[in-house]
Amino acid sequence: TERTYIMVKPDGVERGLVGEIIKRFENRGFKLVALELLHPTVEHLEQHYSDLREKKFFRGLIEYMHSGPVVGMVWEGKDVVKTGRKMLGETNPLASAPGTIRGDFCIDVGKNICHGSDSVESAQKEIALWFPRGVPHFSRGLDRLIYE
Ligand code: GTP
Ligand code: MG
Repeated sequence: TERTYIMVKPDGVERGLVGEIIKRFENRGFKLVALELLHPTVEHLEQHYSDLREKKFFRGLIEYMHSGPVVGMVWEGKDVVKTGRKMLGETNPLASAPGTIRGDFCIDVGKNICHGSDSVESAQKEIALWFPRGVPHFSRGLDRLIYE
């Protein structure tokens, strides 16, 4: 089954939006398989966003992401990478449709409260980076009410 890495960024944690974001993934039927609150090191964040190292906003992005604790999680389910990105909305919150997380809760791209893996391959890398001890598999009886 597919898995994705979703993170509530420091602004989302400080604004008390952790429960709201978890609730949306739970309500949709996805399965929470890992969860951690931590204040990551600059090095860890640089690795997470290593694809963006050459961008002008990179230093500012790392500073933003280092400004407080984050909540990282792994969600599992059918097509969860693409669907998770849809639930988050566009990178720029002002371009995000109402009903999406960014479209409902934020305004500026540099304070967009959440992260979601952009492909199955990135999800695998990010899950290995943030949960190096591994994320166990377990089955859930509820799935009979979610999947046909
Ligand atoms: P993530 O889920 O956080 O990875 O966002 P994304 O995949 O929608 O966008 P991307 O990976 O390209 O950028 C990562 C993060 O960098 C964004 O979520 C923003 O917080 C920040 N970012 C991206 N573009 C800009 C920009 O033009 N200016 C600023 N200040 N921040 C940006
Ligand atoms: Mg990204």
